[in-house]
Amino acid sequence: MRSLIIGKFASTANRIVSPGSAALLRAVVLPAGVCLAMAVTVAVTAARGEAASAPSVLEGAYTEEQALRGQELYYAECLACHGEDMGGLDQAPPLAGPQFSGVWEGESLWALAGRIDTMPPARPGSLSREETVAILAYMLWYNGLPIGEVPLSTEQGVLTGTAFQAPPLPGE
Ligand code: HEC
Repeated sequence: MRSLIIGKFASTANRIVSPGSAALLRAVVLPAGVCLAMAVTVAVTAARGEAASAPSVLEGAYTEEQALRGQELYYAECLACHGEDMGGLDQAPPLAGPQFSGVWEGESLWALAGRIDTMPPARPGSLSREETVAILAYMLWYNGLPIGEVPLSTEQGVLTGTAFQAPPLPGE
């Protein structure tokens, strides 16, 4: 799909160059620009289409094993500042509940993983991708999101395609 569009764009560009008239060039460059914008839009839409196969956090996007591993890491690396109940302490904000959802609702798990990877503040980047995703799984569990059958992937594409969502409140 993408190469097809680029091919079409390239043939338009060829036609722009051949007449050699500056006025005509200007007249045609704008639509060509629009065409490129459209190609980009289509490419982005196609990427989102692929991402649709990424799991929804509302339907179980991590396993219990992952969350347990994450809990271990959380206790060792995060609890002192963010609290046993993820309620936050002093300067450290909560990692569960309405305030957290207010920041992260609709944001990708990839963005959230990137934020986790800035932690602990004294050792940014010290967590492996697996460790970051395990902690993320524990945070999803703590936010009341369901456990699933398939482990949360460490792949950027999957994490980018999965948004953080708070579980619906009872009665919603
Ligand atoms: C020494 C205390 C400390 C430790 C340990 C720590 N954090 Fe933090 N964390 C903070 C502070 C302070 C902030 C807010 C300011 C900042 O971003 O540095 C924060 C911010 C965050 C945020 C952003 C929250 C938001 O609302 O956007 C996340 C997510 C987070 N921490 C996760 C973790 C995880 C996961 C760990 C363990 C791997 C961890 N933190 C360890 C102090 C800490």
